[in-house]
Amino acid sequence: CGIVGYIGFREAYPIVIKGLQRLEYRGYDSAGVALLDHSSKLNIYKKAGKVAELENFVIGKDSSGSIGMGHTRWATHGAPSDRNSHPHESGNGNLAIIHNGIIENYGPLKEELISRGHIFNSDTDTEVLIHLIEDIQKEAKIDLQQAVREALKEVVGAYAIVIMSKEDPEMLIAARKGSPLVIGVGEKEYFIASDATPIVEYTKNVIYLNDNEIAYLKTNELTIRTIDNTVKTPYVQQLEIKLEMLEKGGYEHFMLKEIYEQPRSINDCMRGRIYPLEGKIQLGGIKEYAEKFKNAHRIIIVACGTSWHAGLVGEYLIEEYARIPVEVEYASEFRYRNPIISENDIVIAISQSGETADTMAAIEMAKSKGATIFGICNVVGASIPRLSDAGMYTHAGPEIGVASTKAFTAQVTALTLMAFYMAEVKGTLPKTKLIALLSELERIPSLVEKALESDKLILEIAEKFKDSRNALFLGRGSGFPVALEGALKLKEISYIHAEGYPAAEMKHGPIALIDEEMPVIVIATKNSSYEKVISNIQEVKARKGIVVAIVTEGDTDVVKMADYSIEIPASDEAFLPLLATIPLQLLSYHIAVLRGCNVDQPRNLAKSVTVE
Ligand code: G6P
Repeated sequence: CGIVGYIGFREAYPIVIKGLQRLEYRGYDSAGVALLDHSSKLNIYKKAGKVAELENFVIGKDSSGSIGMGHTRWATHGAPSDRNSHPHESGNGNLAIIHNGIIENYGPLKEELISRGHIFNSDTDTEVLIHLIEDIQKEAKIDLQQAVREALKEVVGAYAIVIMSKEDPEMLIAARKGSPLVIGVGEKEYFIASDATPIVEYTKNVIYLNDNEIAYLKTNELTIRTIDNTVKTPYVQQLEIKLEMLEKGGYEHFMLKEIYEQPRSINDCMRGRIYPLEGKIQLGGIKEYAEKFKNAHRIIIVACGTSWHAGLVGEYLIEEYARIPVEVEYASEFRYRNPIISENDIVIAISQSGETADTMAAIEMAKSKGATIFGICNVVGASIPRLSDAGMYTHAGPEIGVASTKAFTAQVTALTLMAFYMAEVKGTLPKTKLIALLSELERIPSLVEKALESDKLILEIAEKFKDSRNALFLGRGSGFPVALEGALKLKEISYIHAEGYPAAEMKHGPIALIDEEMPVIVIATKNSSYEKVISNIQEVKARKGIVVAIVTEGDTDVVKMADYSIEIPASDEAFLPLLATIPLQLLSYHIAVLRGCNVDQPRNLAKSVTVE
């Protein structure tokens, strides 16, 4: 979910609604705003659907007030509907709340409140929290600030909340535990949001709220206290995001813009980190941990979704070049097992947003068992970098399209750098080889640029398959995670069922699905498994399957067998994932657009999953 709030001298509504549009990628099944003016008039408007529907709904209604907050929802408790949309009100209508996260003990709290006469208007856990605050305030006869602290002590779960009160019409209260909140500091005004995107156009000065902190925002004054009422000194940081990074810049969709940004984003990820002439990799974040990496018994990579696929690529690279055993785990599974972790293990957590709840929980668990945590994140200042012992940013810039593209290739770039770095400290790669690899890596942005030139051809291929119901993606070696990622992209934005498989495993199951209609997309580039992949293609063709092959430029053997071929530039096998991913991203994009899907905001998904 996305949260935005404003207190200051301007009209709040336009700021809040624009903020919601910027945050819409975090959830978009319903949206709402609450506005308060200095005469204590509280107006709440909410609607199931996109922010645009809310905006239409508010036209002609009173949207005045210079204190406001808004919410865009990704449903957890209760279906998307007007009544389950945020903001929610207290029973007496004095308080309003917006919330991101889950209150796990909302059931018993709700029962208790019902027995005390509270009546609820929604199925949400959020409404329970605001009733609890009201109840505590009334019973204990304490001020709102104190009541919020007391209520939060009773809450189990994760939250980022903003509260406004008719009785305190000069103040917004915001609190966080486990879900992100950023405060923008202006001149006689404050902004608050789930991430910095709604804030950038007004101020570059921001404060990242920490867990268990509560911020009290008045036009002229900001106080931060912990839940135990200790005053904290706010730490103001400068945002590096530029406004144009949040705009489509002439592209039809954010996803397409982000696909095309990859030559730059891959370059930004390695800028200042590689020195090909000397065969050196410099990773500021790791320096102090060089010995740890040198002596690591094992590396465990934890992540979710696309980031997990990047982790699989990392496994191939680290094992190949640094000879350290690697395991790649879904964060959500890892944390609920009783995994064997020792102090000699390094956990690498990969996350675009740096806020994924399962990944965060996995980190905390591994930390408690003594592992060293290394974070690979894109969003600067997010929670995971702060939880990690060390780490590196991928520097892909803000990714707005819900389907991850440039963040993935930047993660893969970061992992490539790490694998080479570990190889360097461990001495597992001859210097000459390292020099050759780094020189080739430096060329990758221009090779990605070349791979993008197949866009028109890919559009033509997309037209052939836009009505497919199933698709199979096959790859071997590091082409296997690329196949998984290709399948995920297609299913998430076009709703075509797609599966990624190791090419050799096809004969143990998916081969049964092959017919004259289903496209089988095969990563068949010239590398160590080329001959084997050719055999797999023949198995598909023998069953009249349709093959779309991703081939190395100049290839003739596969091209003869395949129904459609898309070339990518030749390069070292180490960089295959960076190049082979590009045509698959474009293929999914075009198929989804041709099917009339909302590629930037696919149904049911959200960019940042801050619930478990
Ligand atoms: C969501 C997003 C995916 C992303 C995954 C993990 O499902 O839609 O694109 O890969 O979360 O997110 P993270 O921010 O941790 O990489």
